[in-house]
Amino acid sequence: AHAETLEARCQVPVYACQRRTLLAHRNQTLTEVLQTMAEEAHFCGSEARSLAFSRAASVLKSLPWTVRRVQELRSLPCLGEHSRRIIQEVLEDGASAEVERVKHSERYQAMKVFTKIFGVGVKTASRWYQEGLRTLADLQAHRAKLSKEQEFGLLHYDDLNTPVERSDAEAISQVVRDAVGQCLPGASVTLAGGFRRGKQTGHDVDLLLTHPTEGQEVGLLKKVISWLDKQGFLLYHSSRRNTFQAFEDPELWSRSSASGMDHFERCLSIFRLRLPGGVQISAGAQKPGGAVTGSGVSSFWKAVRVDLVVTPFSQFPFALLGWTGSKNFERDLRRYSKHEKKMALNNHVLYHLEQKIFLTAASEEEIFQHLDLEYIPPEERNS
Ligand code: GTP
Ligand code: MN
Ligand code: MN
Repeated sequence: AHAETLEARCQVPVYACQRRTLLAHRNQTLTEVLQTMAEEAHFCGSEARSLAFSRAASVLKSLPWTVRRVQELRSLPCLGEHSRRIIQEVLEDGASAEVERVKHSERYQAMKVFTKIFGVGVKTASRWYQEGLRTLADLQAHRAKLSKEQEFGLLHYDDLNTPVERSDAEAISQVVRDAVGQCLPGASVTLAGGFRRGKQTGHDVDLLLTHPTEGQEVGLLKKVISWLDKQGFLLYHSSRRNTFQAFEDPELWSRSSASGMDHFERCLSIFRLRLPGGVQISAGAQKPGGAVTGSGVSSFWKAVRVDLVVTPFSQFPFALLGWTGSKNFERDLRRYSKHEKKMALNNHVLYHLEQKIFLTAASEEEIFQHLDLEYIPPEERNS
């Protein structure tokens, strides 16, 4: 009865950017099965189906009560028939036969193993599966052709699939801060991504670099990378230059932003993070730089994925908003902007499609104001 009163009182907004979603929520079991289905659909290249499951999970994350009966879903948005059916199965039988089948399927399991390699997406993983490969050992035996990125991904597979702790993220931020301080005094380093949303662990570290005098940031990334490399902090890095042109057709970049990619100068890297006190981790893993012991390989460092992104100061609030996530939150911010406000939002700018003007902002708060949205702090963007 309590749940139903809450349901009646609760008008859950359609867009994730209108909801406050904390990390801890009350429907973990249900969101996990829906996310498994979303992942499976993604592995099949069915992006619309994947999105539908993600949205359903996202709505459940925002509920202030634990769903116990399928009737409680009546007035909720984004819950399609398939999602409701799976939720009902889980509520009534404790598990969904369909989800169990997916989780135990050979294809899902192999796709999961392959896509966990840094640099491997669904396309490559599917191809390997089609060729009959199932495990990392198969991949090595088959001598599959790998990109540089994938080679490093495979080499550091265990480390890169070990959760990055908040303390690791802080340590890496500090190293990058030191590097940036040496290369360009006055420049700043900001931790974005899941850690900014309050997560205690993550799959990588997302860092934004900028300088309050626009233009000063040009050339910074090269110097920072070279400093880090000389100090032995980088196992792998690959950079891309800035390709953003503000005054080309705004329609063009508003389309490209739909994919979540932006045009900032950036570096995808793998850090060699020294561990305090020489803790032994991932015994048996291949560690080219580790110290070999009798039982296998132990080491005093671990590999961590780090994204470095350089932004001109005037675009920083947009970049920060875009790189803080969650993915569901970002996707809906853009969708809301376009459909409800006739504005195009991306990681660089906010553009009014009818008035044909750029709306500037000095903070995330100002971007929310332009969009007539209540400000949602990072900790409540875990949609
Ligand atoms: P974990 O790292 O798994 O803890 O979660 P996370 O939320 O930090 O995810 P991730 O590092 O993948 O991405 C963080 C945010 O940056 C998300 O909102 C993404 O949409 C965004 N992001 C990640 N990669 C890219 C990219 O290549 N281009 C753009 N524009 N955005 C990206
Ligand atoms: Mn991240
Ligand atoms: Mn990232």
